[in-house]
Amino acid sequence: MAHSQAGLTVSDPASDSTMASACTVPADATHGTDDGLHVQGLSKEFGGIHAVQDLSFSLREGMVHSIIGPNGAGKTTLLNLLTGVYLPSTGRIHIRGRDLTGLPAHAFAAAGIGRTFQNLQIFFNMTALENVMTGRHLRERCGLLPTLLRTPQLRRAERDCREHALRLLKFVGLGAQAESSADAMPYGALKRLEIARALAGEPKILLLDEPAAGLNPTESADVAVLIRRLAEGGTTVVLVEHNMRLVMGVSDHILVLDYGRRLAEGTAEQVRNDPRVIEAYLGAAAQPEQAHA
Ligand SMILES: Nc1ncnc2c1ncn2[C@@H]1O[C@H](COP(=O)(O)OP(=O)(O)OP(=O)(O)O)[C@@H](O)[C@H]1O
Ligand SMILES: [Mg+2]
Repeated sequence: MAHSQAGLTVSDPASDSTMASACTVPADATHGTDDGLHVQGLSKEFGGIHAVQDLSFSLREGMVHSIIGPNGAGKTTLLNLLTGVYLPSTGRIHIRGRDLTGLPAHAFAAAGIGRTFQNLQIFFNMTALENVMTGRHLRERCGLLPTLLRTPQLRRAERDCREHALRLLKFVGLGAQAESSADAMPYGALKRLEIARALAGEPKILLLDEPAAGLNPTESADVAVLIRRLAEGGTTVVLVEHNMRLVMGVSDHILVLDYGRRLAEGTAEQVRNDPRVIEAYLGAAAQPEQAHA
Protein backbone atom coordinates (compact mmCIF):
# COMPACT_ATOMS: atom_id res chain seq x y z
CA MET A 1 0.00 0.00 0.00
CA ALA A 2 1.20 3.52 -0.62
CA HIS A 3 0.34 6.58 1.35
CA SER A 4 0.70 10.20 0.42
CA GLN A 5 3.12 12.24 2.45
CA ALA A 6 3.37 15.93 1.79
CA GLY A 7 1.82 15.44 -1.61
CA LEU A 8 4.26 12.66 -2.44
CA THR A 9 3.60 8.99 -2.82
CA VAL A 10 5.51 7.04 -0.26
CA SER A 11 5.72 3.30 -0.40
CA ASP A 12 4.77 1.91 2.99
CA PRO A 13 3.94 -1.77 3.22
CA ALA A 14 3.32 -1.52 6.96
CA SER A 15 0.39 0.83 6.45
CA ASP A 16 -1.70 -2.16 5.41
CA SER A 17 -1.92 -3.20 9.02
CA THR A 18 -5.02 -2.40 10.99
CA MET A 19 -5.08 0.95 12.71
CA ALA A 20 -6.40 0.75 16.25
CA SER A 21 -9.24 3.07 17.10
CA ALA A 22 -7.67 3.91 20.44
CA CYS A 23 -4.42 5.87 20.38
CA THR A 24 -2.69 4.07 23.19
CA VAL A 25 -2.44 0.40 23.91
CA PRO A 26 -0.76 -1.31 26.82
CA ALA A 27 2.89 -0.87 25.93
CA ASP A 28 3.85 -4.39 26.92
CA ALA A 29 1.05 -5.93 24.86
CA THR A 30 2.21 -5.26 21.34
CA HIS A 31 5.79 -4.08 21.05
CA GLY A 32 7.85 -6.07 18.65
CA THR A 33 4.80 -7.15 16.72
CA ASP A 34 3.35 -4.20 14.83
CA ASP A 35 4.12 -0.99 13.02
CA GLY A 36 4.00 1.62 15.76
CA LEU A 37 6.36 3.12 18.30
CA HIS A 38 6.25 1.62 21.77
CA VAL A 39 7.89 2.93 24.89
CA GLN A 40 8.20 0.88 28.06
CA GLY A 41 9.32 2.24 31.45
CA LEU A 42 11.31 5.10 29.95
CA SER A 43 13.27 7.33 32.33
CA LYS A 44 16.02 9.91 32.00
CA GLU A 45 18.02 11.35 34.86
CA PHE A 46 20.44 14.26 34.72
CA GLY A 47 22.38 14.10 37.98
CA GLY A 48 19.62 14.28 40.54
CA ILE A 49 16.99 15.61 38.12
CA HIS A 50 14.36 13.10 37.03
CA ALA A 51 13.52 14.71 33.68
CA VAL A 52 11.47 11.74 32.44
CA GLN A 53 10.11 9.16 34.85
CA ASP A 54 8.78 5.72 34.02
CA LEU A 55 6.76 6.55 30.90
CA SER A 56 5.04 3.79 28.93
CA PHE A 57 2.95 4.52 25.86
CA SER A 58 2.38 3.63 22.24
CA LEU A 59 1.85 5.73 19.15
CA ARG A 60 -0.44 4.77 16.33
CA GLU A 61 0.06 5.43 12.66
CA GLY A 62 -1.57 8.49 11.17
CA MET A 63 -2.62 9.97 14.46
CA VAL A 64 -1.71 13.23 16.13
CA HIS A 65 -0.34 12.58 19.62
CA SER A 66 0.31 15.72 21.62
CA ILE A 67 2.57 15.95 24.64
CA ILE A 68 1.90 18.91 26.88
CA GLY A 69 3.00 20.04 30.30
CA PRO A 70 4.45 23.02 32.13
CA ASN A 71 7.96 24.31 31.46
CA GLY A 72 10.52 21.75 32.57
CA ALA A 73 7.99 18.88 32.50
CA GLY A 74 10.32 16.76 30.35
CA LYS A 75 8.76 17.17 26.90
CA THR A 76 11.94 17.99 24.97
CA THR A 77 13.86 15.38 26.94
CA LEU A 78 11.29 12.81 25.86
CA LEU A 79 11.70 13.83 22.20
CA ASN A 80 15.46 13.55 22.62
CA LEU A 81 15.00 10.02 23.94
CA LEU A 82 12.67 9.13 21.04
CA THR A 83 15.26 10.32 18.52
CA GLY A 84 18.28 8.62 20.07
CA VAL A 85 19.87 11.92 21.10
CA TYR A 86 19.78 10.82 24.74
CA LEU A 87 20.40 7.35 26.08
CA PRO A 88 17.59 6.37 28.46
CA SER A 89 18.48 5.81 32.12
CA THR A 90 15.95 2.96 32.08
CA GLY A 91 13.35 1.61 29.70
CA ARG A 92 13.11 0.48 26.10
CA ILE A 93 11.97 1.93 22.78
CA HIS A 94 10.62 -0.29 20.01
CA ILE A 95 9.86 1.06 16.56
CA ARG A 96 8.10 -1.07 13.98
CA GLY A 97 8.98 -4.23 15.85
CA ARG A 98 12.64 -3.36 16.43
CA ASP A 99 14.33 -2.56 19.72
CA LEU A 100 16.23 0.68 19.15
CA THR A 101 17.17 1.28 22.76
CA GLY A 102 20.75 2.49 23.00
CA LEU A 103 21.21 2.96 19.25
CA PRO A 104 22.49 6.30 17.93
CA ALA A 105 20.34 9.06 16.43
CA HIS A 106 20.97 8.02 12.83
CA ALA A 107 19.45 4.60 13.57
CA PHE A 108 16.27 6.30 14.80
CA ALA A 109 16.22 8.47 11.67
CA ALA A 110 16.68 5.39 9.49
CA ALA A 111 13.79 3.74 11.36
CA GLY A 112 11.53 6.57 10.23
CA ILE A 113 11.75 9.17 12.99
CA GLY A 114 12.00 12.83 11.95
CA ARG A 115 11.91 15.94 14.09
CA THR A 116 12.00 19.68 14.37
CA PHE A 117 13.66 21.56 17.20
CA GLN A 118 12.42 23.88 19.92
CA ASN A 119 15.22 26.28 18.99
CA LEU A 120 15.45 26.69 15.23
CA GLN A 121 18.24 24.67 13.67
CA ILE A 122 18.35 26.33 10.28
CA PHE A 123 21.45 26.91 8.17
CA PHE A 124 21.19 30.67 7.79
CA ASN A 125 23.87 30.87 5.09
CA MET A 126 21.80 28.62 2.80
CA THR A 127 18.64 29.13 0.78
CA ALA A 128 15.33 27.63 1.86
CA LEU A 129 15.70 24.97 -0.86
CA GLU A 130 19.22 24.04 0.23
CA ASN A 131 18.06 23.75 3.84
CA VAL A 132 15.40 21.24 2.83
CA MET A 133 17.87 19.31 0.68
CA THR A 134 20.09 18.80 3.73
CA GLY A 135 17.24 16.84 5.26
CA ARG A 136 17.20 14.41 2.34
CA HIS A 137 20.69 12.97 2.74
CA LEU A 138 19.38 9.74 4.26
CA ARG A 139 17.28 8.98 1.21
CA GLU A 140 19.34 10.17 -1.72
CA ARG A 141 22.80 11.32 -2.56
CA CYS A 142 22.22 15.02 -2.30
CA GLY A 143 24.73 17.75 -1.66
CA LEU A 144 28.38 18.28 -2.31
CA LEU A 145 29.40 14.94 -3.77
CA PRO A 146 27.06 14.99 -6.80
CA THR A 147 28.05 18.60 -7.45
CA LEU A 148 31.73 17.70 -7.48
CA LEU A 149 31.59 14.44 -9.39
CA ARG A 150 28.88 15.36 -11.91
CA THR A 151 28.24 11.81 -13.13
CA PRO A 152 24.90 11.48 -14.95
CA GLN A 153 23.54 9.24 -12.22
CA LEU A 154 24.46 11.65 -9.46
CA ARG A 155 23.24 14.66 -11.45
CA ARG A 156 19.87 12.92 -11.78
CA ALA A 157 19.82 12.19 -8.07
CA GLU A 158 20.56 15.82 -7.32
CA ARG A 159 17.80 16.99 -9.67
CA ASP A 160 15.31 14.59 -8.03
CA CYS A 161 16.42 15.81 -4.66
CA ARG A 162 15.83 19.47 -5.64
CA GLU A 163 12.42 18.67 -7.10
CA HIS A 164 11.41 16.77 -3.98
CA ALA A 165 12.61 19.63 -1.77
CA LEU A 166 10.65 22.10 -3.88
CA ARG A 167 7.47 20.03 -3.52
CA LEU A 168 7.95 20.03 0.24
CA LEU A 169 8.45 23.80 0.29
CA LYS A 170 5.20 24.19 -1.66
CA PHE A 171 3.49 21.84 0.78
CA VAL A 172 4.44 24.06 3.72
CA GLY A 173 3.52 27.22 1.79
CA LEU A 174 7.05 28.37 0.98
CA GLY A 175 7.25 27.51 -2.72
CA ALA A 176 7.79 31.14 -3.71
CA GLN A 177 10.68 31.50 -1.27
CA ALA A 178 12.72 28.49 -2.41
CA GLU A 179 15.66 30.63 -3.46
CA SER A 180 15.42 33.04 -0.52
CA SER A 181 18.35 33.05 1.83
CA ALA A 182 17.21 31.72 5.20
CA ASP A 183 18.65 34.74 6.98
CA ALA A 184 16.20 36.96 5.07
CA MET A 185 13.10 34.93 5.95
CA PRO A 186 10.66 35.89 8.71
CA TYR A 187 10.44 33.73 11.83
CA GLY A 188 7.08 32.17 10.93
CA ALA A 189 8.47 31.03 7.56
CA LEU A 190 11.55 29.54 9.26
CA LYS A 191 9.33 27.45 11.54
CA ARG A 192 7.64 25.98 8.46
CA LEU A 193 11.02 25.56 6.75
CA GLU A 194 12.06 23.32 9.65
CA ILE A 195 9.01 21.17 9.07
CA ALA A 196 9.83 20.88 5.36
CA ARG A 197 13.38 19.86 6.16
CA ALA A 198 12.20 17.22 8.62
CA LEU A 199 9.80 15.87 5.98
CA ALA A 200 12.65 15.54 3.49
CA GLY A 201 13.78 12.41 5.30
CA GLU A 202 10.32 10.90 4.67
CA PRO A 203 9.63 10.16 8.33
CA LYS A 204 6.88 7.78 9.32
CA ILE A 205 6.78 9.52 12.70
CA LEU A 206 7.33 13.26 12.87
CA LEU A 207 8.17 14.88 16.20
CA LEU A 208 7.45 18.63 16.37
CA ASP A 209 8.90 20.54 19.33
CA GLU A 210 6.83 23.71 19.72
CA PRO A 211 6.20 24.39 16.00
CA ALA A 212 3.86 27.27 16.83
CA ALA A 213 6.04 29.03 19.41
CA GLY A 214 6.26 32.70 18.52
CA LEU A 215 3.67 32.47 15.75
CA ASN A 216 0.61 34.67 15.46
CA PRO A 217 -2.87 33.07 15.45
CA THR A 218 -3.06 32.96 11.64
CA GLU A 219 0.34 31.29 11.37
CA SER A 220 -0.59 28.84 14.13
CA ALA A 221 -3.76 27.95 12.26
CA ASP A 222 -1.65 27.25 9.17
CA VAL A 223 0.52 24.88 11.24
CA ALA A 224 -2.64 23.11 12.41
CA VAL A 225 -3.70 22.57 8.79
CA LEU A 226 -0.25 21.18 7.95
CA ILE A 227 -0.37 18.76 10.88
CA ARG A 228 -3.80 17.46 9.92
CA ARG A 229 -2.75 17.00 6.29
CA LEU A 230 0.30 15.04 7.38
CA ALA A 231 -1.73 12.78 9.62
CA GLU A 232 -4.32 12.23 6.91
CA GLY A 233 -1.45 11.17 4.62
CA GLY A 234 -0.43 8.47 7.11
CA THR A 235 2.34 10.24 9.02
CA THR A 236 2.20 9.86 12.78
CA VAL A 237 2.68 13.27 14.39
CA VAL A 238 3.97 13.88 17.90
CA LEU A 239 3.26 17.46 18.83
CA VAL A 240 4.91 19.18 21.79
CA GLU A 241 3.25 22.55 22.18
CA HIS A 242 2.20 25.16 24.72
CA ASN A 243 -0.42 26.66 22.39
CA MET A 244 -3.53 25.01 23.79
CA ARG A 245 -5.77 26.21 20.99
CA LEU A 246 -3.57 24.33 18.52
CA VAL A 247 -3.24 21.24 20.73
CA MET A 248 -6.94 20.98 21.49
CA GLY A 249 -7.83 21.49 17.83
CA VAL A 250 -5.56 18.93 16.15
CA SER A 251 -4.88 16.15 18.66
CA ASP A 252 -6.29 12.66 18.52
CA HIS A 253 -4.65 11.94 21.85
CA ILE A 254 -2.92 14.05 24.48
CA LEU A 255 -0.35 12.97 27.07
CA VAL A 256 0.15 15.43 29.91
CA LEU A 257 3.51 15.43 31.69
CA ASP A 258 4.41 17.03 34.98
CA TYR A 259 7.84 16.63 36.55
CA GLY A 260 8.61 13.99 33.96
CA ARG A 261 5.68 11.80 34.92
CA ARG A 262 2.39 11.09 33.22
CA LEU A 263 -0.15 13.35 34.88
CA ALA A 264 -3.10 12.56 32.62
CA GLU A 265 -3.94 11.43 29.09
CA GLY A 266 -6.89 11.13 26.78
CA THR A 267 -8.82 13.11 24.22
CA ALA A 268 -8.80 16.90 24.19
CA GLU A 269 -12.15 16.86 25.95
CA GLN A 270 -10.94 14.50 28.67
CA VAL A 271 -7.71 16.39 29.26
CA ARG A 272 -9.15 19.89 29.31
CA ASN A 273 -11.64 18.87 31.98
CA ASP A 274 -9.15 16.99 34.14
CA PRO A 275 -8.71 18.87 37.42
CA ARG A 276 -5.10 17.68 37.72
CA VAL A 277 -4.28 19.28 34.38
CA ILE A 278 -5.95 22.55 35.26
CA GLU A 279 -4.10 22.58 38.57
CA ALA A 280 -0.71 21.86 36.97
CA TYR A 281 -1.06 24.63 34.42
CA LEU A 282 -2.78 27.49 36.16
CA GLY A 283 -4.01 26.58 39.57
CA ALA A 284 -7.48 25.26 40.14
CA ALA A 285 -9.25 28.49 39.24
CA ALA A 286 -8.61 28.61 35.48
CA GLN A 287 -9.03 26.61 32.30
CA PRO A 288 -5.88 25.34 30.52
CA GLU A 289 -6.66 26.87 27.13
CA GLN A 290 -6.36 30.34 28.61
CA ALA A 291 -2.70 29.72 29.37
CA HIS A 292 -1.15 30.54 26.03
CA ALA A 293 -4.01 31.68 23.84
N1 LIG B 1 20.98 18.20 29.12
C1 LIG B 1 20.45 18.42 30.32
N2 LIG B 1 21.21 18.41 31.44
C2 LIG B 1 20.67 18.61 32.65
N3 LIG B 1 19.37 18.84 32.88
C3 LIG B 1 18.56 18.86 31.81
C4 LIG B 1 19.05 18.66 30.48
N4 LIG B 1 18.00 18.72 29.61
C5 LIG B 1 16.92 18.97 30.37
N5 LIG B 1 17.26 19.06 31.68
C6 LIG B 1 16.33 19.27 32.79
O1 LIG B 1 15.31 18.30 32.67
C7 LIG B 1 14.04 18.88 32.97
C8 LIG B 1 13.11 18.75 31.78
O2 LIG B 1 13.59 19.64 30.76
P1 LIG B 1 12.91 19.70 29.31
O3 LIG B 1 13.73 20.63 28.50
O4 LIG B 1 12.75 18.32 28.82
O5 LIG B 1 11.50 20.33 29.64
P2 LIG B 1 10.34 20.81 28.67
O6 LIG B 1 9.09 20.17 29.11
O7 LIG B 1 10.76 20.64 27.26
O8 LIG B 1 10.26 22.38 29.02
P3 LIG B 1 9.86 23.65 28.09
O9 LIG B 1 8.37 23.66 27.99
O10 LIG B 1 10.37 24.82 28.87
O11 LIG B 1 10.56 23.48 26.78
C9 LIG B 1 14.32 20.32 33.41
O12 LIG B 1 14.46 20.34 34.81
C10 LIG B 1 15.63 20.62 32.74
O13 LIG B 1 16.34 21.60 33.44
MG1 LIG C 1 11.09 21.89 25.66
